[in-house]
Amino acid sequence: MDNGATTQKPQTVLDTLVRIYSQQNANIHRGVHFLSEQATEAYESARRTVCDYLNALLSQEIIFTSGVTAAINLVAFSYGERYIKQGDEIIVSQMEHHSNIVPWQMMCNRKGAVLKVIPISDSGELLMEEYQKLLSPKTRLVAVAHVSNTLGTVNPVKDIIRLAHEAGAHVLLDGAQSVQHIAIDVQDLGCDFFAFSGHKLYGPTGIGILYGRKELLDELPPWQGGGDMVDCVRFERSTYNELPFKFEAGTANYIDAVGLESAIRYVHQLGLDNIAAREADLTQYALAALQEIGGIRIYGMAKDRIGTFSFLLNGIHPYDTGMILDKMGIAVRTGTHCTQPIMQRFGIEGTVRASLCFYNTCEEIDKLCEGLQKVKKLFA
Ligand code: ALA
Repeated sequence: MDNGATTQKPQTVLDTLVRIYSQQNANIHRGVHFLSEQATEAYESARRTVCDYLNALLSQEIIFTSGVTAAINLVAFSYGERYIKQGDEIIVSQMEHHSNIVPWQMMCNRKGAVLKVIPISDSGELLMEEYQKLLSPKTRLVAVAHVSNTLGTVNPVKDIIRLAHEAGAHVLLDGAQSVQHIAIDVQDLGCDFFAFSGHKLYGPTGIGILYGRKELLDELPPWQGGGDMVDCVRFERSTYNELPFKFEAGTANYIDAVGLESAIRYVHQLGLDNIAAREADLTQYALAALQEIGGIRIYGMAKDRIGTFSFLLNGIHPYDTGMILDKMGIAVRTGTHCTQPIMQRFGIEGTVRASLCFYNTCEEIDKLCEGLQKVKKLFA
């Protein structure tokens, strides 16, 4: 029950990785030989698969990164260099994980810009009236989570994007916790950037995606130098490759990109609608079961939510709860979940978090609840 941190990998993804390493391994974009051409084609096929999965318009809009953190850092650096000047404002929310806070703080420090924060309600929902008040002609970019990794809240991203665009600002959606639960259509959403990590979508670690609208990406300078991002190198001045390679410095993680493609195919095979329906049932079941436990407080009670539950048992430290559950073979995350500002908001040190996905079962949820009852007894 720690799928918010990472998901398990289906056999087909493991088989793909072994097949590529054992039969098809060569560096991409660097050789005319057979293996290199095959590896290059597999990598570019993975890009097209991600493009379809997000319903992006062009595969050049899909940049492979090492994960959501690298994707956000890329935008914070490159967008910052191109568009941000002293006094400009960036808006994030109080429910962001650190990867969608710190890169913007670093950019604000570099550029003399100001970070504004959308507060959240007691039930863990964005205060949209406060958001509207923060938007101004100085707002350049709004960066928010599609789904909160700690509270499970699904944010009203279409409204967030519409309001930002009306104010003349761009929007980055952090899809780290949405892409495995909700069908994503970046054209329908209208976001300017969308970022996610492969390992939370049943794919390998070390691979992630930045989607950006082509007109915007074309305007941004590269983030890192060397390798695939190069066009012509002279000591006087170097020029850069076209999209998407301009943002893919070094040797790309071509193996895990194909592993991610395999994970997306797996999700397609199950059907994202089936996954969403199954997870909605599990979420309802878990919410009702957890609420039956006396002395529990659940942090995050948004109406629109996924099956991620942060909670505390009366007076019991989350690490104690987590360790006892672990002894019973139940894996939950404990602590701040890379969202210290949420803990500050609720005046707590941390929580226990159970984050479900489709392969969890109602029996497992029952076991979790039994475990929590045992923890309560032990600490009574
Ligand atoms: N951000 C990841 C989580 O929520 C690591 O656990």
